[in-house]
Amino acid sequence: MTMTAGSGDPLVTAAVVGGGPSVQIRDLTVAYRIAGRDMAAVAGIDLELPPGSITGLVGESGSGKSTLALALLGAVQKPGRITTGSIEIDGVGDVVTLAPKAVRKARGAQIGYVFQAAQNSLNPLKTVGRQLLDLAKSHDVDDKQSLVRQAKSLLERMGLDAGRMLDAYQHELSGGMRQRVGIMFALVLNAHLLVLDEPTTALDMISQANILSIIRDVSTDRALTTLVVTHDIGVVAEVSERIAVMYGGRLVEQGPTTQVLRDPKHPYTRGLIRAIPRLHGDPALAQALPGRPPTLGTTPETGCVFRERCDVFARLQLPACVETDPRPTPIDGDRLVSCHAVASEHQQADREARA
Ligand SMILES: Nc1ncnc2c1ncn2[C@@H]1O[C@H](COP(=O)(O)OP(=O)(O)O)[C@@H](O)[C@H]1O
Ligand SMILES: [Mg+2]
Repeated sequence: MTMTAGSGDPLVTAAVVGGGPSVQIRDLTVAYRIAGRDMAAVAGIDLELPPGSITGLVGESGSGKSTLALALLGAVQKPGRITTGSIEIDGVGDVVTLAPKAVRKARGAQIGYVFQAAQNSLNPLKTVGRQLLDLAKSHDVDDKQSLVRQAKSLLERMGLDAGRMLDAYQHELSGGMRQRVGIMFALVLNAHLLVLDEPTTALDMISQANILSIIRDVSTDRALTTLVVTHDIGVVAEVSERIAVMYGGRLVEQGPTTQVLRDPKHPYTRGLIRAIPRLHGDPALAQALPGRPPTLGTTPETGCVFRERCDVFARLQLPACVETDPRPTPIDGDRLVSCHAVASEHQQADREARA
């Protein structure tokens, strides 16, 4: 596959041929072992990241987003472990069964990433430039000068004084600067798959908009496959082509961002959107979602994990919501929704259309 570069940016052209890989996550369960019990933070998830596009993974804190991102990077730490499923990355293999050494090699080279709390992930004892050279060494990069050039170009694009950044130690940088340096590290090796966990959380609104537009530009220019993880559905609205909504370790809704935002189906997605006035255009109607998301210990073991906060369950009290965990049901072509009420409404409409 050949792509034309969208810009004359020299750092773009090298990686454009090929574009991002496809990623297939199947039946993925990641559990943390707590007090002798495996508790699933990610529970049997299926998710596909289409090559060359940006997917936003959104949900309140505690829904399992970072755990899913770590699994994708082959970086789940004890007491966590992947108990079922596969993560097939085109050109890398199944991250779940790959040898740890091969996974480490892929991280950085094929998979660029920024962990959550990246503000604190730099080595405090080494300058940014030194860490860049370490990265070059650990990934057998011969042309160090070109790597430094790329790093500088990325830093400047993010509005930073590149020379000063490379000479700086972590403690000399603000939270926002560290976050941008983290993004530079994610992009500098020309990875084709990019995983960014809360990339703009430490930033003010203007810096956030700047970083999001850079993420969008670089992803588009290089045709990267990108996963942006965030608790802020506004961020997803700004960068992603597809959205996956996570709650209690499940994906409750997936689809093209414009469709999901215009016509959210799952009661949880509707609640998230209602809470953000700039997404639905009526500040008077901003309404916080009542209640709190479950923790590993309070996630219901049977039925729908969202039902206790669900306005539809409160109204209809469908027995299915108490009895079985809803599976993703295809709706309107490209969309998936895991909700008994939505599924039965959809079946009903289908029957009426056919009658
Ligand atoms: N290292 C860990 N040990 C035990 N529980 C964890 C650990 N990391 C995360 N969890 C739990 O797993 C659930 C999902 O967490 P996380 O993936 O960080 O969610 P999110 O990124 O959506 O906020 C939460 O209930 C959290 O408390
Ligand atoms: Mg997180």
